[in-house]
Amino acid sequence: MSHIVIISGSPTPGSRLNGLINYVESKWVADGHKISHIRVADLPAEALLHAKFGDEAIVKAVGVVAEADGVVIASPVYKASYTGVLKAFLDLLPQTGLRDKIALPLFIGGSLAHLLAIDYSLKPVLNALGARNILGGVYAVDQWVERLEGGEHGLSPELLLRLDASAAQLVEELHWHELKLQEKAKTAAAEQ
Ligand SMILES: Cc1cc2nc3c(=O)[nH]c(=O)nc-3n(C[C@H](O)[C@H](O)[C@H](O)COP(=O)(O)O)c2cc1C
Repeated sequence: MSHIVIISGSPTPGSRLNGLINYVESKWVADGHKISHIRVADLPAEALLHAKFGDEAIVKAVGVVAEADGVVIASPVYKASYTGVLKAFLDLLPQTGLRDKIALPLFIGGSLAHLLAIDYSLKPVLNALGARNILGGVYAVDQWVERLEGGEHGLSPELLLRLDASAAQLVEELHWHELKLQEKAKTAAAEQ
């Protein structure tokens, strides 16, 4: 089973983004995968603002990313891009901190106007961090996510379909990735 880390870049605790995150997480947990969370807004603001690479909480969070096989980058759209809070954390990852990881973007915006934000703003950054397998991801709009009592969310049928497809795609890619690593290890062992 794989280890998936969900990095959430929303500054808002009650964000609709949580509806998307909770849904895909429940799918992966049911499949037996290990899930970790990094809520960037919960990390020390001082460390994020001043790029304190050595801060204890930052080192721990970066370590969780290093151990993960799959990385979900979840963010609301702010000013046509992902949030500044998220970027502050991505800046603290090592230069190739996403190498050999499967990345899945999950975005939510007020409208479809910035549908391409994943492609023009997030993907170049993930690429710079070494990610070579970046899935298409999901871009949701606020009207697809209803806030319910008790912090729950109601997701539209259209959004559920997209999340189901992306959650399944990540698992499939992780499976192939695992097989590839096993094959590499066998070849290396045979060459010794
Ligand atoms: C500061 C700010 C900037 C925003 N900029 C955009 C934008 O450029 N495009 C867009 O579609 N939605 C924009 N929105 C709407 C949010 O993406 C959307 O409402 C999202 O669900 C809010 O998530 P949050 O509750 O985690 O902040 C913006 C919202 C905020 C607060």
